[in-house]
Amino acid sequence: MSETGPTKEISQSAANDKHGDLLSDHSYDGIQEYDNPLPGWWRFLFWASILFAPVYFFYFHNGMKGRSIHDQYNKHMASVFELRFSEIGELKADRETILKYMNDEPKWLAVGKVVYQTNCVSCHGTKGEGSIGPNLTDDHWKNVRKIEDIAKVIEDGAAKGSMPAWKNRLSHPNQIVLTAAYVASMRKEPVGGKAPEGEKIPAWGESTSSPPKQ
Ligand code: HEC
Repeated sequence: MSETGPTKEISQSAANDKHGDLLSDHSYDGIQEYDNPLPGWWRFLFWASILFAPVYFFYFHNGMKGRSIHDQYNKHMASVFELRFSEIGELKADRETILKYMNDEPKWLAVGKVVYQTNCVSCHGTKGEGSIGPNLTDDHWKNVRKIEDIAKVIEDGAAKGSMPAWKNRLSHPNQIVLTAAYVASMRKEPVGGKAPEGEKIPAWGESTSSPPKQ
């Protein structure tokens, strides 16, 4: 750890080299190092990101509604749906409406199908054959006696949440009605699957808006 002899000569000639860099004033076992500060732009980014982090955190994650990315996403989705549903307005979750969309509106029934495929297959199967949840294609139902009960079950859930409530998870109330219509339509094509549960109930009935089938 001495600064005499050849080491000192080397370090001094290094100190005076053509870059003119300064040596830091410590020496370990005769080894010295340049004092090369990080570039200004780098230190600026370093401090700026540290200062920015709490501002970002308190703005977006303070619990105020509408500021998080998730809230903004929902807001945009709601306006997309408003535009999309402007043609049909807000649907009522009653018998006539659900039957009408089940039988006569394949374009809108497809919206219900997408909701079903995105959210329901994990518990009810791709074709409604059932797994965790009951089979939705047979004539036996646990919580449903009339077609409009389907919309109620989707909206509020059942069995203390083992069938989740969807009213706050879907972006537009029409999605519940159209999903109910799609669920009702699956009963037209029983696929086997999970054994029947609940009571046997009568058929949904025909659409009031289409002429009786021959
Ligand atoms: C986490 C699993 C799960 C998911 C996801 C789920 N369900 Fe269910 N669902 C259930 C269970 C379990 C029941 C049976 C409740 C009971 O025992 O009363 C049920 C019941 C139902 C019923 C009533 C069936 C009957 O026999 O009365 C309908 C209709 C239904 N679900 C539709 C849906 C729709 C539509 C979705 C998607 C938006 C969905 N479910 C998503 C688990 C689920």
